[in-house]
Amino acid sequence: MRLVLLGGPGSGKGTQADRLSARFGVPKISTGDALRAAVAAGTALGERARAVMDAGGLVADELVIGIIRERLADSDAQTGYVLDGFPRNANQALALDEMLSVADTPGLDHVLYLRVSDDDILRRLLARAAVEGRSDDREDVIRTRVRRFNADVKPLLDYYRREGKLRPLDGAGKPDAVFQHILQTLI
Ligand code: AP5
Repeated sequence: MRLVLLGGPGSGKGTQADRLSARFGVPKISTGDALRAAVAAGTALGERARAVMDAGGLVADELVIGIIRERLADSDAQTGYVLDGFPRNANQALALDEMLSVADTPGLDHVLYLRVSDDDILRRLLARAAVEGRSDDREDVIRTRVRRFNADVKPLLDYYRREGKLRPLDGAGKPDAVFQHILQTLI
């Protein structure tokens, strides 16, 4: 199973990607997790990404495309994967398709789009901030992330709709209910 999870900040991409990864026995590949690990490890990539992430912007396409290119070449990704947070704009979507075609591997099966209102996103991420203290879960930064997402998402949705792969879903229910809904969509 080769899946992409699209959705705004806090829409549940990571939560559902974990479940899909366990259900289908394929790795979850998250650019956000990879970037946070690079920041924590103080690598050159992390140093380049830190300020952008803390401000709620998007890290340069060339960096995240490089992360994905390397990760998709790993042996555990050869039979499938769940991409969480990539692609995030039309340029990244084109780069992904090109990567898959050059490697002569099958294309994506489905692109799941978790729709959640901006108010719910803010509520969820402020609740997470109180528990986890992620550096980009401050209210002003959350609002910037939401604006960024809303500005970039339409061309991405149009791209996958044209390819017949887009599966929009209501992401507002409880995590288990959203997961059941996703499974029904994949049948
Ligand atoms: P990333 O880590 O991808 O952050 P994000 O898109 O803002 O998403 P989140 O991780 O906040 O939320 P999520 O949708 O995964 O939801 P989650 O399941 O965690 O990226 C971080 C940064 O890295 C970006 O801002 C950017 O700077 C950079 N970056 C990453 N990818 C990039 C790319 N491709 N290009 C350029 N830059 C990139 O859930 C959120 C919370 O809600 C949790 O507390 C969870 O428990 C709760 N929750 C989940 N589901 C539900 C539910 N159904 N009901 C109630 N609560 C729920």
